Amino acid sequence: MWRGIIEEFRDFLPVTENTPSITLGEGGTPLVRARNLERTIGFKGEIWLKCEGANPTGSFKDRGMVVAVAKAMEEGTELIICASTGNTAAAAAAYCAAADIKCVVFVPEGGIAKGKLAQMHQYGAKVIQVRANFDETLKLTQQIAENDPAVTIVNSTNPDRIEGQKTAAFEICEVLGEAPDYHFIPVGNAGNITAYWRGYKEYAGRCTCGRSDCSCCDTTICESCSCLTGLLPRMMGYQAAGAAPIVRGKPVKNPKTFASAIRIGNPASWQGALDARDESGGVIESVTDRQIRAAYKMIPALSGVYCEPASAASVAGLIKALRKGQVTNTEETVVVCTLTGNGLKDPDSAMEAMGEPIVVDADPEKVAKLLAE
Ligand code: F0G
Repeated sequence: MWRGIIEEFRDFLPVTENTPSITLGEGGTPLVRARNLERTIGFKGEIWLKCEGANPTGSFKDRGMVVAVAKAMEEGTELIICASTGNTAAAAAAYCAAADIKCVVFVPEGGIAKGKLAQMHQYGAKVIQVRANFDETLKLTQQIAENDPAVTIVNSTNPDRIEGQKTAAFEICEVLGEAPDYHFIPVGNAGNITAYWRGYKEYAGRCTCGRSDCSCCDTTICESCSCLTGLLPRMMGYQAAGAAPIVRGKPVKNPKTFASAIRIGNPASWQGALDARDESGGVIESVTDRQIRAAYKMIPALSGVYCEPASAASVAGLIKALRKGQVTNTEETVVVCTLTGNGLKDPDSAMEAMGEPIVVDADPEKVAKLLAE
């Protein structure tokens, strides 16, 4: 049985025997081959979707949150807070409920998908809507945490979050046998691209020589053994065009995109994203809302995996990169796209894309006519 992030990856995480071993069953998410998508976009290689919407609260945030909340319990924290575009807050609220720690989440007023807002309330957090955008809300939250040692902030500025999130890269390598050639990922506050890159580097750096006399094998992650030759992917990060500070090289004051999860103008892990890009020989680029919308519609219909709008930026990025010739298009090429959050979180965006409903009387003839259309 899958034991959750802390137990499955204990040796790779900053946990001790004093860290409470909490879990909601996070991690171990499906990696799904998307053959119809490959055909449709004219990609000769393999596209794999890392379905992070399958986590307990419906997003990748659970991986880091379980570690951050467990560490906060170990340290005797009385209150956990975060700023969020929705998913971090939902995850924080859920793990705090499991850990019996008080949780207060700060979200930009009116900027959160309905499913996420419903979740954080139902998990019992105090939800405070701030008349500000995400960047200003994060600053406010940091100021509150700074002045009180009994408060832990669980944004991705919390190093335990990044440590937990890197485990998605381990899982991908385990399933594929090695790292993919390219990894496509949406970029918002830039914690996840930072985490994946760390995960891939650590996986590639594991000691696999199997020699019983190898001193490196005492440690789980080996830095010096010459047997270490693991592959590394190129990290391909995508911001929404109206919220693309890293692409522009400066913060965006009023970030705009319909993909509310990545409506961020001044990412906390900016440098981590640049390092991932530069060390891996990848890119950080933008995709327009139109491109995100097209991918958002295409992904579930071609793969059966339902994701939220921000997640679709990864596939939109793949389509753009293919067109620009930034990806080798051969049978041997292996690509992973992270679908960061579950489509059910954002019913409004889906309804908007749906068009007019088809309604019919309970009359077989009328139905037959419809089917013939
Ligand atoms: N996709 C989804 C569904 C997200 O919720 C986020 C971030 C991202 C992508 C981007 O990841 O920030 O690590 O670069 N959501 C944060 C939140 C900001 O508050 O839930 P990132």
